[in-house]
Formats: sequence, structure tokens, C-alpha cells
Amino acid sequence: MASLQITGFDGGPVDEQGTFPLLYSTAEPLDSSAVQNWAASVRQSVATQLSRHGAVVFRGLGLADDAAFDAFVAGFDWPNFTYVESLSNAVRRNRTERVFTANEAPPDVSIFLHHEMAQTPMYPSRLFFFCEQPAQSGGATPICRSDWLLQQLAEEAPDFVHACAAKGVMYSQTMPADDDLASGQGRSWRSTLSADSVAVAEAKLHNLGYRWQWQADDSLHVITPVLPAVRELADGSRSFFNQLIAAFFGWQDARNDGSKAICFGDGTAIDADAMATAIRLAETLTLDLQWQQGDVALIDNLRVMHGRRAFAGERRVLASLVA
Ligand code: FE2
Repeated sequence: MASLQITGFDGGPVDEQGTFPLLYSTAEPLDSSAVQNWAASVRQSVATQLSRHGAVVFRGLGLADDAAFDAFVAGFDWPNFTYVESLSNAVRRNRTERVFTANEAPPDVSIFLHHEMAQTPMYPSRLFFFCEQPAQSGGATPICRSDWLLQQLAEEAPDFVHACAAKGVMYSQTMPADDDLASGQGRSWRSTLSADSVAVAEAKLHNLGYRWQWQADDSLHVITPVLPAVRELADGSRSFFNQLIAAFFGWQDARNDGSKAICFGDGTAIDADAMATAIRLAETLTLDLQWQQGDVALIDNLRVMHGRRAFAGERRVLASLVA
């Protein structure tokens, strides 16, 4: 494709260190039969750039629907991380085997920055998002370099970062018996654990190292094993790899209180002031991906956090996860 341009998100030149995210854009849309081959042709260079820049956005390729997005993802030929097998707490709907709706939570619910499924022992390495239809207003996907955040946080709250790295964290959460579409964390325990009975659910939790307690209304309170809160990346840098911000500020629904949902791995409380510092720094580092129809964003889930802004109108953003 002769007209392909690789730039910063604002169209500016690429700086090897600082450009975030990288933008692939073209004014020549692909024929739908050519999507998969095109993706296969850029796969290697995109993987290299992704490891450096943390996120790559593709614009103008002319992808119209879930089938085109599926073909695009298939061109990369990376292993699929299925929603069904995941312990994700969001309610989602599959469109194809590897493509599903990003989160069915209502438009006025903001989803705070997080690494996908970092609150579970099983998480995807990379995420594809596709904008089938942008919202009428709002609905951006905020993205934030978590390695840059950790650097700044280590300067402002060194004791907190040290405790995160040394102790790890535990998350607790109450899952409903049936999907709760009013919540960003409304996935039922039956769906989350792929369990149709209490016995199957308990066996799965036991294998994962979770503790649990059944509630009177058939909902299920779970506490994770100790999970890392800081992660060392392949290039030696470190990221704030966890769900602390999303859990602390966002896990509010009929069953959950976010401030009680997290603690350090030794059971001690996480300082609310440190969390306020983390979210303040994260906001200054955040870039809002304002979606255009047909955009695809590829995100390194180990280096970059994402969220969802509230919106009005119909917004259809699909996702596909890489194991
Ligand atoms: Fe997410």
C-alpha cells in the first residue's frame, strides 16, 4: 500500500522513545478480501513497534464490521485468548470465535484505567480493539503508559511502589448469580467460572488458589491469591501491572465497594492517598483514543493500561485478545 503513513497519533514525526501511540494511516481503504493478507504482511514490523511504543492505531483501512475485524486479527496469527475461558469480570457478547463486545456496561459508567484481567492469574498479552461505530459523544478509550506511570509514582510515593513490588496485592469481589448488565463488573459466577453448579465452581476456585464465601442471595464473594502489582518487562523496564486504579475507583455496584476490594498481599490496607497520587499521575499521562469508524487499536497489555470514557448514543467497540 503506497499511501501508508506511520506517524505519531497527532500526525507528527515518530520519536523512537516518546511516541505514544503510533498511528498507521492510509487514505486507500483495503478491499475486504485483502484485509487478512495485509495484516499478515505488517505483522512482524508491528510487533517490533508495539514492544517499543506500547500501542499502535490503524486508521483508514476501511474495516466495516466484525467479519472484517476478525480477518484483520486472523492475519496476525497470534494465539487467541478466549473470553469464555477467561476470569474477566465484565459482561461481553461473542460476535465470532475471537471477536466480542468490549463491555456491556451502561453508557454513563466510566471504566477506570487497568491492565486487562490483571486481577486474575490469567491475562492476555495483547489486545485488539475495533470501532464498529463511534458514540455520538464521549466514549473514548483512554490509554496510559504504565511503565512511565511507575517511574513517576516511584518518585512521588516510593514507599508505596516498594510495598507493591515486595508484597503484591489481593483483590476481592462479589459475583452475582446471574449477569448484571447494570455493572461494569457484572459477570455472573456461573459465566466467570464456566460452572453450572456450586461443586464445579468450588473446584475451579480451589485450583486457582482463591478463597470464597457463598452469600445468602446465591452471589459469590471471592478473594484472589497474591498477585503481582509490579511487572518487569522484556526490556528491563517495569510497569504498574495491576487493577488497583480500576478496582479502587471503579468497582462500585450493588455488591461491591472498591475501596475494600484491594489490599496488599500480606492483608494490610492500601493507602488511599497513594491511590489518589497514582490516579492523578495517570491522568496526566493518559491519551484519549477518540474513535473513528473502522479504527483498530493494538495494545501491549503488559505496558499499557486502558479504560472507557462515558458516552452518549450507541457505541460499538469490539475486542479480541491475544494469549
Ligand atoms: Fe478492559
